[in-house]
Parts: sequence; C-alpha cells; structure tokens
Amino acid sequence: MTQSTNSPALQRVLTGITTTGTLHLGNYVGAVRPAIAASQEAGVESFFFMADYHALIKCDDPERINRSRLEIAAVWLAAGLDTSRVTFYRQSDIPEIPELTWLLTCVTSKGQMNRAHAYKGAVDANVAAGEDPDAGITMGLYSYPILMAADILMFNAHRVPVGRDQVQHIEMARDVAQRFNHLFGQGKEFFVLPEANVEEDVALLPGLDGRKMSKSYDNSIPLFEGGAKGLKDAIAHIVTDSKLPGEAKDPEGQTLVTIYDAFATPAQREQFRVELRAGLAWGEAKQQLFELIDAEIAPLRSRYEALMAQPELIEATLQEGAAKARAIAAPLLAELRQAVGLRNFSAPAVVAAPVKSLKVALPVFKQFRESDGQFYFKLNAADGSPLLQSAGFAGGRDAGQWVARLKREGAAALTGAPVHLAAGVAHQQVAEALKALQAAEAE
Ligand code: TRP
Repeated sequence: MTQSTNSPALQRVLTGITTTGTLHLGNYVGAVRPAIAASQEAGVESFFFMADYHALIKCDDPERINRSRLEIAAVWLAAGLDTSRVTFYRQSDIPEIPELTWLLTCVTSKGQMNRAHAYKGAVDANVAAGEDPDAGITMGLYSYPILMAADILMFNAHRVPVGRDQVQHIEMARDVAQRFNHLFGQGKEFFVLPEANVEEDVALLPGLDGRKMSKSYDNSIPLFEGGAKGLKDAIAHIVTDSKLPGEAKDPEGQTLVTIYDAFATPAQREQFRVELRAGLAWGEAKQQLFELIDAEIAPLRSRYEALMAQPELIEATLQEGAAKARAIAAPLLAELRQAVGLRNFSAPAVVAAPVKSLKVALPVFKQFRESDGQFYFKLNAADGSPLLQSAGFAGGRDAGQWVARLKREGAAALTGAPVHLAAGVAHQQVAEALKALQAAEAE
C-alpha cells in the first residue's frame, strides 16, 4: 500500500464503481468487502459512489444503466455499508461534478489525454483492424480521466483505492490538480493531491476456469443472482484436476482452494488442505466450499432481496448521501468559480487583485502546406509580424523536426537551418524570439 505523504487526522478515502453490469463474487471479495472493512477503521472518512456518468461512456442501454445502479447500490447496502459513517451517492446526483469537470478540462493538456491507456488502447485496436484511428471513439472515452479527476478532487480525497489499471488516472488527477492550484490558487491549494492505493494483498478471485473472474470470460460465480442454487451450480463448474475420490490431491494452485481461502479462517484453510491431501473427493470439496461461502453470503442475499423489493428505500438513502456530498462540493465549487473569474457582478466590489498574467504573448511557429505540395513553416512575432520562413520540405515531419529543434536549441540551431529571415528582420530579433520560446518551454 502506498504511504500518504500528507497525513491529516482524518484521511479521506474515495472510490467509484462504474455501473454497467451486475457484481459477481470476485467483485465482492476484491472490492466491496475490503472497502466496507476499510470504511470502519478509525481516522478514515469514506466516500463511495456509483460512477454512472462513467457508465454512460460504455453503455447506451438506458434500462441496463438504471438497473445496474440499483443493483449495485443494493449490493453495497446489503453487504453492510454504514451510511451514517460513509458518504454513499450517485455521481449523477452531484451537478458540481460535471461543472468541475469543465473547469478542469480547460486546464488539461490534450497531449496528456492522448496518452491515456483506455484511449490509446482503443486507437491501437482500430489501427490494428485497419480502421480510422478514432473510429467509434467518443469524446466521453477521450475525456474519461478528466471526469474521474473531478470525482476525486471535488472531495479532496487523500487516498483512492483502485485496481492497477486505474493508477494512470490518479496520476492524471494529480497533474491537473497541481496545474489548477498553480494557475488559480494565488498561493492557496484548492486541491489535495490524491494518491492511488493499489491493494497488493487483496485476493484476486479466479473464475471457474482459473483465469481472472470476469463477465467477458464467462467464468464468473454470481454473487446473489439465482440464489443459493445459482451459487451451488456455479461451484459445480469449477475446473479441477481429474484425481479420483480417495486419491491424494495437491491443494496448491487449485482454483477451488484459492476461492475457499478467500472465505476461510486460517484454521479452516489448514483443515481443507489436510483433507484434500488425504483424498477428499472433488465433489465433497465443492460441497464444503458451497457451505462456506453460503454461510457468509446468505444473510446478505436476503437483505439484498428485501432492498430490491423496495427501491424507494434505496432512493431515499442515495438522496441523503447526495445531500451530504453536495454540502462539501457546493462551497468548494463556489470558491473555484470565484477563482477562475466566474463571479457575481452585484457582489461587493472585489478588490482588484494583481492579476498574474497567465500567458505572456509569445512568438509562434506555424506549419503549412503550399499549393506546390511542399511543407513549410514560419515564425511570427507575438504581434503576428513575420520573422522567418522555411524552405520547402517534401514531408510534414521534416518541417516539424526543424521546428522542434529551433524551439529546443534556440538561435544555436539557426546556423544551417533551411530558413530565411523575413524582409527587414535582424538576426538578433529572431534570436530573441527563439529565446522567449525556450524560456516558456522550460517553465
Ligand atoms: N474508473 C473507475 C473504474 O473503472 C471508476 C471510477 C470513476 C473511479 N471515478 C472514480 C474510481 C474515482 C476511483 C475514483 O474502476
């Protein structure tokens, strides 16, 4: 687990659950159960929410979206989430989140979003399939990390428990928080820089065939679906070796044993291994596994069924959670609106703070293609007047490489560069313009 560098008395822990499907036993063991346990620790203030805006990115079936958020809320409540301690809400009930998303979008560099794994993965898949790189990619997918940053920064979470695949998103949230603090904070830190908590020791429950349990592998064990019978039937399908009853079995590396371990006490684990080595039949072992899991799950299942029969109770609980969350989100957002300049005109005259100029006007390189089919670039001064122009290049890349080199090396790269100065422009002027660009780049 990552150590937090800032350790105030109360650590805020926040995590979101994307609501696109039903939870299986692996989600319970890997996410729900440990999160609820962690929320009971002293000194921890937990925020759990249903990331239903994120769900819209992946799913355009309204029935499924709605059903999934209801079921997932019911699972968390049935599993013992204490909503008097934990702030539990739907992302879409907090209008401050999309509003903050926009403020953050305006200070997020596009280049960084180009590097987000989810987007890059989709592009790579398109390219591999010979499609347009952006085929089927929505702006939702592209901006996914910014919405996620808003989820986290809105509540100034210190720690974000996530899977390994989400770590990059937390790093992006830190970056954008830092940029926003720097641009608008005037010395004040609006946002805490969050840290990812990747739980190394949380059991990753294997699926029926031993691979990671996942809907897409069709190897999952349902959590509540199908009741006790559904659980039993799934367990019957766990793949084992073909050792006969009475034959000694090696428990290590057996999917069945790994799943058993996730629900057993150390003494039970030991006993199960002893029996398997002594020749316990796989059928018997499956029966024991079923009984062990069902002992933990059955009370949750009946609470779940009761909750699903009263969606209005879940609604009321989530509305309360939203009110608690908004009591934190709204004042912070009001402050942020002030900071960026979205202010009420009739409010008492704001003392004209010395406005830190965010962007000094800089010279600009422009690249273009002429009717001769060749690629060119030019450098204009901040006021738009031309400073230099390049010779023609066969490829846009070559032009781009010269631009990059001039930006990086400044006037030193001018000697030998295939460029000529604009009429009436002195070498010194160009050198100074390049120096200004270098300085801005280094900032
Ligand atoms: N992207 C996360 C996932 O797919 C879900 C999520 C959305 C989230 N917003 C979040 C997780 C904020 C942690 C914090 O698992």
